[in-house]
Amino acid sequence: MEQADTVILGAGAAGLFCAGTILERLQGRGGQRIVVLDHARAPGEKIRISGGGRCNFTNLATAPDRFLSQNPRFAASALAGFAAADFVAMVDRAGIAWHEKTLGQLFCDGSARQIIDLLLHRMRGAELRLDSAVESVEPLAEGFRIATPRGPLQARRVVVATGGKSIPKMGATGIGYDIARRFGLDIVEPRAGLVPLTFAQQDLDLCRPLAGLSVTAEVGHGAGRTRALFRDGLLFTHRGLSGPAILQISSFWRPGETIRVDLAPDADIAAGLRELRGQGGRVAVATALSRWLPARLAEAICAELELAGARLADQGNATLDSIANRVNRWHLRPVGSEGWRTAEVTVGGVDTRSLDSRSMQAKAVPGLYCIGEVVDVTGWLGGYNFQWAWASAHAAAQAI
Ligand code: FDA
Repeated sequence: MEQADTVILGAGAAGLFCAGTILERLQGRGGQRIVVLDHARAPGEKIRISGGGRCNFTNLATAPDRFLSQNPRFAASALAGFAAADFVAMVDRAGIAWHEKTLGQLFCDGSARQIIDLLLHRMRGAELRLDSAVESVEPLAEGFRIATPRGPLQARRVVVATGGKSIPKMGATGIGYDIARRFGLDIVEPRAGLVPLTFAQQDLDLCRPLAGLSVTAEVGHGAGRTRALFRDGLLFTHRGLSGPAILQISSFWRPGETIRVDLAPDADIAAGLRELRGQGGRVAVATALSRWLPARLAEAICAELELAGARLADQGNATLDSIANRVNRWHLRPVGSEGWRTAEVTVGGVDTRSLDSRSMQAKAVPGLYCIGEVVDVTGWLGGYNFQWAWASAHAAAQAI
C-alpha cells in the first residue's frame, strides 16, 4: 500500500494552510511525506468565490465571542496561537494588496485567486492530488488506511479538513462527519448558517414590492445569555429579507423561533412622531415617517397599517405606538431557510469535546485531527470563518 506520513483530506482553506504550515515548521529538518486529497478539480474553490471574488480573508476583531459552538471557549487557544495579524503579515509578505471594508473585514484589492496562490506556494513540498475522492478512513494497527477510487493510502496521521455541508454544488459532502463517527467522535447536528431565511406570505406581501431596498437595521434573536444582536445592512427581496444582518442572525435562529427587526435603530419612532404631531402635525403619517426611513418603506408600512394618506395630527397615541412597534420592534417568524444550497457555512460539526483544543487531535484517537469548518466552531459573517480555518490548521500543524 502507498505510504505517507500525513494525509490531509480536503484542499480547502484549512487543508492547504495546514500542509503549508507543517512544511514551514519542518523546514531544514528532513522531510515528511504529506499528501493532500480532494475530489474537486481545483483547490480552494470556496476561497475563489468568497467575498464576492475578493476573499474576506480575516477579521481584525477576531475573538472567541465571534464564534458559535457548544463550547464557546474551545476556539480560544487556536485563535490565540495564530491571530488575524499573523495572516495579514503573511499576505503582506506575499505582496498582496488589501483593504478594510468595514467592521475589521479585510479583503484583497485584487482577486481571491491571490490567496489560493499564496496557499499553494506555501505547500509546494506536499503532494496535491485533485480528482481524488476520499471514500473512507479505517484504523490500522499503526496509523490509518484511506480508501480512494485510485487505491488506498496508508498514513501515520490523518487530518480531516473536508469542510461542512454548505453548497454541495461546490463539492461539499458530509464525509468528515462520517469519518469522525467511524472513530467514535460525537457530532453536533449540522445545520445551515449564514443563509437567507424564508418568510410567510403575509411578510412577503410587504417585502416583495420593496425588493432592492436596503436599510441599516438591528436584527435580534433570543434573550439573556443566548441573545444575539447585529446592526448591519438589511435587504428587502422577492423572497423576503436578506443582507448581512439577516445572514448573521440565521446562524442563531431555529425553526419556530421569531426574530426582532429594528428598521430605524438610531431613532425612537414613538417619541419622534409625538414631537412632530405636537408641532402641528399637518403632514401625512408616511411623510413624517420618511424622516427616519426610505419613503417607499414608510409608505408600505403606513399602507399595511391602513394609514395610507392619513394625517399625523389625526392619530392618537395608540396608533403612533403601533407604528413605532412596527418600525422599532418588528417581530417576524421565518418559516425556514434556503438550506445547504446557499448557506455560506455549516453550524455544528465534530463535537469539540472530542478534540484537544491545542492540537485539534481527537482525544481518543492519536493521529486523527479535525480542522476548519468540519469542527463545531462557526464564525460570524465577516472573515471569521477563514480565520478559524487558518488558526485551527496552524494548531494542528504545530502538533504534526
Ligand atoms: P472547505 O469547504 O473550504 O474545503 C473542504 C474541501 O474538502 C473542499 O475542497 C471539498 O472539495 C473537499 N471534500 C469534501 N468532501 C470530500 C471527499 N469526500 N473527498 C475529497 N475531498 C472532499 N468565509 C470567510 O471567512 N470570508 C468570506 O469571504 C467567505 N465567503 C464565503 C462565500 C461563500 C459563497 C461560501 C459558500 C462560503 C464563504 N465563506 C467565507 C466560508 C468559508 O468559505 C469556509 O468557512 C471555509 O472555506 C472553510 O474551510 P475548510 O477548509 O474547512 O472547508
